[in-house]
Amino acid sequence: MSEAAVYRQQSSEILKICTNIIGARDEYTQGHSHHVYVVAEAILQAGSYFIDSEKLAHAALLHDIGKILVPENVLNKDGSLSDEEWAIIRQHPANGCSLLQGTMFEDIGDWILYHHERIDGKGYHGLSGDDIPLASRIIAVADTFSALRTYRAYRPAKSIQDTIRILKEAAGTQLDVNVVQTLLSYDEDFLEALECNCEICKRRKEMEQKKALFEKINLQ
Ligand SMILES: [Fe+2]
Ligand SMILES: [Fe+2]
Repeated sequence: MSEAAVYRQQSSEILKICTNIIGARDEYTQGHSHHVYVVAEAILQAGSYFIDSEKLAHAALLHDIGKILVPENVLNKDGSLSDEEWAIIRQHPANGCSLLQGTMFEDIGDWILYHHERIDGKGYHGLSGDDIPLASRIIAVADTFSALRTYRAYRPAKSIQDTIRILKEAAGTQLDVNVVQTLLSYDEDFLEALECNCEICKRRKEMEQKKALFEKINLQ
């Protein structure tokens, strides 16, 4: 087996362990991370970015691994978060980067560290524009798309039309204009089908569809 093939096999085994740990800690984060990976891949395919697709896949799958260090009562809190709790949540990119130090994923540490930066410099570490690694900017767009399109306990997923509008509004302030344009170069049907297939989203989507159907029947 070639060196590259051995690396690929080892990295996929270790990635699986890591994503299982993320899932054991928080089922939503595991599904969301996979969704971010799928969306980031789509961005990479539509754009002309000089970036290692395998490394981007690893970073997308592991971008929120630092959340395993966030206490349960903060990570899944029902109500609004206090300043102290927000400070804990905001540590997750740095925690994720630290967890990867000394491992075969060490070189994507910075991509994870900066995935909550904003183009206008108002993100977690104050980096702005092109100072933010391109991979982090791609993950940020995929992350936002995924957050809008996934079902949460406190709200349903946004429609694809609302998601497109919100991404356009965020381009240039929160998100990289070029990366947003690349994602939105896909047609609406493609983007709508680019949904999260985790069990939580599937269950919630089914519930929403049933609710909509009952409402329709009751109106008739
Ligand atoms: Fe994150
Ligand atoms: Fe995320």
